[in-house]
Amino acid sequence: MGLLTKVSLGATAAFSIARVQAAPASNALYKHVLVFSVDGMHSSDVEKYVAVRPESNISKLLSTGYEYSNAFTSAPSDSFPGSIAQYTGGSPRTTGIWYDDVWDWTYYPAGSNCTGVPGAEVQYAENVDYNSTLLWSGGIDPGNLPMTFVNGKCESIYPHMRLQVNTVFEVITAAGLQTAYVDKHPAYEIMNGPSGKGLSAGYFPEIQAVPNNVNATIAYDELHVQAWLSFIDGTTPANSTGHLAPSSMPALIGGNFQAVSVAQKTVGYMNDSSFSPALLHAFDYVDGAFGRIVTKLDQKGQLNESLIIIASKHGQAPINPQLWNEVDPDALVNATGVPTAFLTADDIGLLWLNDTADIPTAVENLHKNASNLKIQTTLSGTQLVAQGFGNPMASSRVPHIIVQPELGTCYTTSQSKLAEHGGLSDDDRKVACFISNPKLQKKVFNGRVNTTQVAPTILKALGLDPKALEAVLQENTQVLYGFQ
Ligand SMILES: *[C@@H]1O[C@H](CO)[C@@H](O)[C@H](O)[C@H]1NC(C)=O
Ligand SMILES: *[C@@H]1O[C@H](CO)[C@@H](O)[C@H](O)[C@H]1NC(C)=O
Ligand SMILES: *[C@@H]1O[C@H](CO)[C@@H](O)[C@H](O)[C@H]1NC(C)=O
Ligand SMILES: *[C@@H]1O[C@H](CO)[C@@H](O)[C@H](O)[C@H]1NC(C)=O
Ligand SMILES: *[C@@H]1O[C@H](CO)[C@@H](O)[C@H](O)[C@H]1NC(C)=O
Ligand SMILES: *[C@@H]1O[C@H](CO)[C@@H](O)[C@H](O)[C@H]1NC(C)=O
Ligand SMILES: *[C@@H]1O[C@H](CO)[C@@H](O)[C@H](O)[C@H]1NC(C)=O
Ligand SMILES: *[C@@H]1O[C@H](CO)[C@@H](O)[C@H](O)[C@H]1NC(C)=O
Ligand SMILES: *[C@@H]1O[C@H](CO)[C@@H](O)[C@H](O)[C@H]1NC(C)=O
Ligand SMILES: *[C@@H]1O[C@H](CO)[C@@H](O)[C@H](O)[C@H]1NC(C)=O
Ligand SMILES: *[C@@H]1O[C@H](CO)[C@@H](O)[C@H](O)[C@H]1NC(C)=O
Repeated sequence: MGLLTKVSLGATAAFSIARVQAAPASNALYKHVLVFSVDGMHSSDVEKYVAVRPESNISKLLSTGYEYSNAFTSAPSDSFPGSIAQYTGGSPRTTGIWYDDVWDWTYYPAGSNCTGVPGAEVQYAENVDYNSTLLWSGGIDPGNLPMTFVNGKCESIYPHMRLQVNTVFEVITAAGLQTAYVDKHPAYEIMNGPSGKGLSAGYFPEIQAVPNNVNATIAYDELHVQAWLSFIDGTTPANSTGHLAPSSMPALIGGNFQAVSVAQKTVGYMNDSSFSPALLHAFDYVDGAFGRIVTKLDQKGQLNESLIIIASKHGQAPINPQLWNEVDPDALVNATGVPTAFLTADDIGLLWLNDTADIPTAVENLHKNASNLKIQTTLSGTQLVAQGFGNPMASSRVPHIIVQPELGTCYTTSQSKLAEHGGLSDDDRKVACFISNPKLQKKVFNGRVNTTQVAPTILKALGLDPKALEAVLQENTQVLYGFQ
């Protein structure tokens, strides 16, 4: 609470400074940081792409930069915690953000006024929009938000209000600098952080309105690219939330590409795990976009002043398409043999039971059916705590049981998918992570890193204090190699 108060006071005090174009902090290594997630891009895809396209823009970025070849995104590896990791420095136990669709026994449904039996689904995706069939969906309809008591008062909870720690965007705007962020649903206003004030500008065209195929998603990604190019120019694209100060390129620009992820899910890899033509087409599109971004930075005279960070918020599993198989999520729920409130199902299962006393019984029953349900492991009780997931007895955010299926298994009845993410496997979590600037000398770091380390690295690069992030303090998150 103390820290949050400080951030919002800082933001108010800094506002007048922002208008006179604050100078970067004196110990800044860079004036700007640009952070891009190529959703779905594995660490192994970096090697594969460079082998197929040795002259690519990605190869060029790597030739003056650091590559982290053993980088892991959040566990679970859903987009929501995966992005939050990079911009807070924290994992789900600290941020409270486990997935874009969870259960919380202290919440109530939208429109309930917190009356009735406690316990509600908390979903922050296209479902909260005014009209998710529209690319410009109207943003978040507060009438669609789940509710809970805040200081004794029933409130509709926007995504940013649920986040338990501050974001880099808040730290940067509080320092009088500007920020801009681009993502696939208006629900990503979560990046504003608990103060609600972290983003100078946000740009959130609704991806749900776009057909689920590679070329339509490339056209969608192009909206993101045009928004970034516009932010580099210091102009705010139409339909943004918020506004940049005139003609000033933000200190932090962030966002992601969706085409590779859609290609992985709808077309996939070849049986030998090489790229299919459609997947290569998606990577080529992304590579060309990086070329255009670099050219734009150069034209603005800002390339040497800009650190480019490419870190994927999730991979996709399985890479080998022959391993894909589906198990009905209802079978998982039924097999617990106890009353179950909610299952978050992908290539992971997060279970919330009605009664925590039933956890051991449910785990035992799941193990009896492990081969039918393709369960590799379950995590509950002390295992959750020991492995850094937190304690469901102490927090309504933490699932009672995590089910990790065998690699390639997804709890879904979809007949049209070839891969998914969200789970704990290396195919889900071992992601592309590299950093580039013309002044850096090529280096490959093979030591394990977490994408949570992107957050303190952003602040360090801008000459701001990484310890201004609450999650960095709580988890002792280190800056990436090369920036210590
Ligand atoms: C919730 O409370 C508000 C204000 O008291 C009231 O206008 C509204 O009708 C209530 N909604 C429901 C669903 O009870
Ligand atoms: C959402 O937009 C579509 C397309 O314009 C329209 O047909 C539909 O009626 C809208 N839905 C609502 C609930 O407004
Ligand atoms: C996608 O676009 C590429 C080039 O723009 C084209 O070669 C390919 O046929 C298109 N794919 C589909 C499925 O339409
Ligand atoms: C902005 O959103 C409106 C709908 O609210 C849409 O008609 C318009 O095309 C959008 N403009 C741009 C430039 O995206
Ligand atoms: C890939 O493997 C699957 C399953 O083993 C097989 O059915 C399919 O024919 C293979 N595809 C090719 C192009 O070899
Ligand atoms: C790099 O990006 C530029 C700009 O989009 C593109 O024209 C070029 O083909 C890309 N370079 C390579 C080698 O693919
Ligand atoms: C789960 O149990 C319900 C109720 O007994 C049953 O109707 C349903 O078919 C079961 N589903 C699966 C996939 O086993
Ligand atoms: C679970 O296993 C029991 C026997 O061990 C079996 O009767 C039941 O059908 C299985 N349920 C599921 C959902 O696989
Ligand atoms: C378990 O919780 C869910 C969600 O609140 C509820 O719908 C269901 O009735 C409960 N089941 C039992 C047996 O209490
Ligand atoms: C940018 O940095 C590179 C590498 O140090 C240098 O060769 C180049 O001249 C610099 N460009 C500008 C515009 O300062
Ligand atoms: C990465 O996260 C894991 C799991 O939370 C932790 O055990 C490990 O120490 C972290 N590694 C680094 C380099 O921070």
